[in-house]
Amino acid sequence: MNAPATKPPVGALRCDRTEAWAALRGHYEAHGRDFDLREAFARDPGRFDSLAVEAPEVFADLSKNHLDTATLHFLLDLARECGVEARRAAMFAGSPINSTEDRAVLHSALRAPRGAAPFSDEVHRTLDALLAYAETVRDTATSGIRDVVNIGIGGSDLGPQMVVPALDACAHPGLRFHFVSNVDGHDIAPVLRGLNPAQTLFIVASKTFTTQETIANAQAARAWFIARGGSDVAKHFVAATTNVQAAAEFGIVTTFGFWDWVGGRYSLWSAIGLPIAIAIGADHFRALLAGAHAMDRHFATAPLAKNLPLLLGLLDVWYRNFHGHASRSVAPYHQGLRRLPAYLQQLEMESNGKRVDASGAALPYATSPVVWGEPGTNAQHAYFQMLHQGTDVIPVEFILVRRATYGALVADRALQDQLDRQHRMLLANGLAQAQALMVGKSAEAARAEQVPTASRSIDPATLASHRTFPGNRPSTTLLLDELSPRSLGALIALYEHRVFTSGAVWHINSFDQWGVELGKALSARLLPQLEAGAAASADLDPSTAGLLRRLRP
Ligand code: F6P
Repeated sequence: MNAPATKPPVGALRCDRTEAWAALRGHYEAHGRDFDLREAFARDPGRFDSLAVEAPEVFADLSKNHLDTATLHFLLDLARECGVEARRAAMFAGSPINSTEDRAVLHSALRAPRGAAPFSDEVHRTLDALLAYAETVRDTATSGIRDVVNIGIGGSDLGPQMVVPALDACAHPGLRFHFVSNVDGHDIAPVLRGLNPAQTLFIVASKTFTTQETIANAQAARAWFIARGGSDVAKHFVAATTNVQAAAEFGIVTTFGFWDWVGGRYSLWSAIGLPIAIAIGADHFRALLAGAHAMDRHFATAPLAKNLPLLLGLLDVWYRNFHGHASRSVAPYHQGLRRLPAYLQQLEMESNGKRVDASGAALPYATSPVVWGEPGTNAQHAYFQMLHQGTDVIPVEFILVRRATYGALVADRALQDQLDRQHRMLLANGLAQAQALMVGKSAEAARAEQVPTASRSIDPATLASHRTFPGNRPSTTLLLDELSPRSLGALIALYEHRVFTSGAVWHINSFDQWGVELGKALSARLLPQLEAGAAASADLDPSTAGLLRRLRP
C-alpha cells in the first residue's frame, strides 16, 4: 500500500462567511437580477470569445449565461476563500476528505497512468486482470457468450448503463448488453425471457455486496440459470465488489475487487466498469480512462479563470444561491447519451443533496439543484415549452457532438448520406433552442407574424401575448468533436469535478449518502408486515398502516 499522508485542508471558510459571498449578494442586487443577455452581447461583441473555455476534449460556450466580468471575479474569489484549491489537492493526494466515513476519495487514481497516483500498483494490477478477462469474454467463438447481464443498482448500474450505449459505435457487434437494477421483477423478467443460459454472462455488481435489490436479482438470475439447465455457475456469474468474501459466499469464483475509496457513483472506472470493458475492449477502455485523466489534470492545474469544471461548479452556485434557480436541465443532443441525465442525477444529487455542513451545522443556503433532462430533439417535443414560456427560469445545458459516428451500423452510402443530413438537422435544432431561449420573441414580432393555425376569433394582441417568448434564459453549450471513449471519459470527469467544486464551496461532504439509509431500514421493517400473516406493528403511522392493509396479498 502506498497511501499518502497529506492532511485535509484547514481554515477554509464556509461560503456564506466569505467576503466574496457578500460581494456576490451586492452584485446580484445591483446588476445580476436585471442582467440581460441580449444587452450583454450588444455591449461586448467579443463576449463569445471571452467566455469560451477549452478543456481536454470539451469546448464550452459560457457566453449565454448570466455572467459578467465582476460576477466571474467574485466567484473566483469565492472559490479561493472557500479553500477549493486546497481541498482539490487533498482529494488528489488521497486525504480522507469523506470525513463521515473517514475515507479518501480517489476515483482519479483509477484513471492515472502507472505510478502517477496513490495505490497505483493495486489499481493497475486489477485493471490488467479486468481487461484480460474482458478480452476472453469478447472472444465469443471461445467463450460462447452472446448476452451480458449487469445486475447492480445506483452507482453499480448507472455508469455502465450510460456508457455502453454511448459507445455503441465501438462496441462488440456479437454481444448484447442488459442492465437489471430494480427489485421489481418486471425489470429482470423480460431480460431473462430472451436468454440462453449457456450463452449468458451475469455480472453481479455491488460495492458492498449487501444491497437488497442486487442480491435479490442475483438470486433470481441464479435460480433461473439452474432451472434452465445452466450447469456452470462459476463460469457464468462473476462479481465486481469490494466485498470479495460475500461474493464467494454467494458462490462466485471470479471476482474483480476495488476499494472503499471509490464512491459508488464514481466507480465506473473501477471493476464496476466490467460491462464497459467487455463492450468496447481493452484499448477503448484505456482511452476512456485517459480522457478522464486528461480532465483530472486540467482540473488540477488549469488557472482558475480557465478551469472548466471549476467554472461550471461556480456557475451552479451563482444560479442556485443568488438567482434562486432550483433546477438545471441537461439536454444531450446525441441519442447515445440518453442515460446521461439519469447518471448525472445520482452524481450530482446524491453527492450534493445535503443539508448540513462538514461540522454538522444546518445550512442557511440551498445546495444541489434538481438535475433532469432527456436527449434532444425528443425533449423539444415534451418539456421545452416550459423552458421557453414557463414561469420558472431553468438553466439548460446543451451537449452537442460535431461528428456523428454510427460505426459499422451504416455500410450503405445512401443511408450514410441521409443520416449525415439528419445529424446536421440535430445540431441545427440544438443551436436553435439555445438561441431561442436567449433571444426570445417580442410581442411586436409575434404580432407581425401570420399564423395559419391560430384561432380567427382571438384578437391579435391576445394572440401575440401567448406567442411571446421572454428570452434572456440562460444556457451553457458543451461541444465534443466526436463521442469517443476518450471524449466521454473527459466529459464524465468534467461533471465529477464540477460537483466537487460546488460541494466544496457549500462546505458539504459530497462523498457520503446517509440520506438513503432511513428508507432502507424502514423497508426492512415493513417487509415482514406486508407478507401474509404478519401483524401490523402498533407503532406504525395510520397512513402507512392503511396502505399496508390494502396492499396485503
Ligand atoms: O443508494 C445508495 C447506494 O449506496 C449508492 O450510493 C450506490 O451506488 C448504490 O447504493 C449501490 O450500492 P452497492 O454498489 O453497494 O450495491
